[in-house]
Amino acid sequence: MQRLSDKICIITGAASGIGLASAKLFAREGGTVICADIRAEAAEEAAQAIIAAGGEARAMRVDVGNDDDLAGMIDQTVSDFGRIDVLFNNALFVNNEMAMRDGDFLAFDPKIFFATLKVNVLGAVLASKLAIPHMLERGTGSIIATSSGSSMGGDVTAYSYGSSKAALNWFVQAIAATYGKQGIRSNAILPGPTQTPAKLQWTTPEMDAAFMKVLNVPFIGEPEDIAAMALFLASDESRYVNGMLYPVDGGQSCTVPFVSVTRTMKGEQ
Ligand SMILES: NC(=O)c1ccc[n+]([C@@H]2O[C@H](COP(=O)([O-])OP(=O)(O)OC[C@H]3O[C@@H](n4cnc5c(N)ncnc54)[C@H](O)[C@@H]3O)[C@@H](O)[C@H]2O)c1
Repeated sequence: MQRLSDKICIITGAASGIGLASAKLFAREGGTVICADIRAEAAEEAAQAIIAAGGEARAMRVDVGNDDDLAGMIDQTVSDFGRIDVLFNNALFVNNEMAMRDGDFLAFDPKIFFATLKVNVLGAVLASKLAIPHMLERGTGSIIATSSGSSMGGDVTAYSYGSSKAALNWFVQAIAATYGKQGIRSNAILPGPTQTPAKLQWTTPEMDAAFMKVLNVPFIGEPEDIAAMALFLASDESRYVNGMLYPVDGGQSCTVPFVSVTRTMKGEQ
């Protein structure tokens, strides 16, 4: 028995990184995967790769920051497959120029903040709002969000990104509380640094060396490491898990904050 046999799974941001690794893994475990992504061609490539490997997949061009696209994603899935078992809200707002400017608090720009929230928070909240009535009809459903370790504390950069993920956590838990008794679960994954195209774009070998000082594993995580947790949360194995925010971060959040200072004092890497 495969872990997602017969489950209809929507994954946003499925054309790259964590979303793509999850799409491939979900399909290998018997799920039918709706590969939703703002990049139509890349979404199609993801779906075709899954089909070529013997899985079930469908590509959909969806901008999760667009309300009509979200409605189309949910309606089309229900009309084609009759239900939604898993909604994995994984897409993130991408704008390199805005990301650079968002690192200076005194230049804080509400335009960047609202654009980030529209995709990272509202994209997930509205998709959930539209999917939940269909899940309620069947009394079951798993909603998963990719949040971030950045949501768990103050930072000196990425003000809009970090706050958007903190808001996302709140909605994940509010949905869990509101619909848990009716069979719908809602959980978040908080990845640490993960070697996706998004991360590889802004990190250097020097930054990776700095990451290694705060990680408590001997490597930086791969998209498949996050997908493994998403698979657990999507499957019925996690039926007693609701409203949780799971760090999958190489142990970076398990220590006192100054561990890297202590390591340096001890002459360790
Ligand atoms: N990589 C990391 O180190 C890391 C760490 C913490 C959290 N995360 C989170 O993981 C999730 C996935 O990130 P990733 O690193 O795999 O990124 P990625 O860039 O590899 O993939 C993101 C995908 O989202 C798509 N996308 C962008 N805007 C979209 C929109 N408006 N509508 C639909 N699709 C859209 C992109 O086309 C891309 O295919 C994000 O929510 C991110 O915040 C990543």
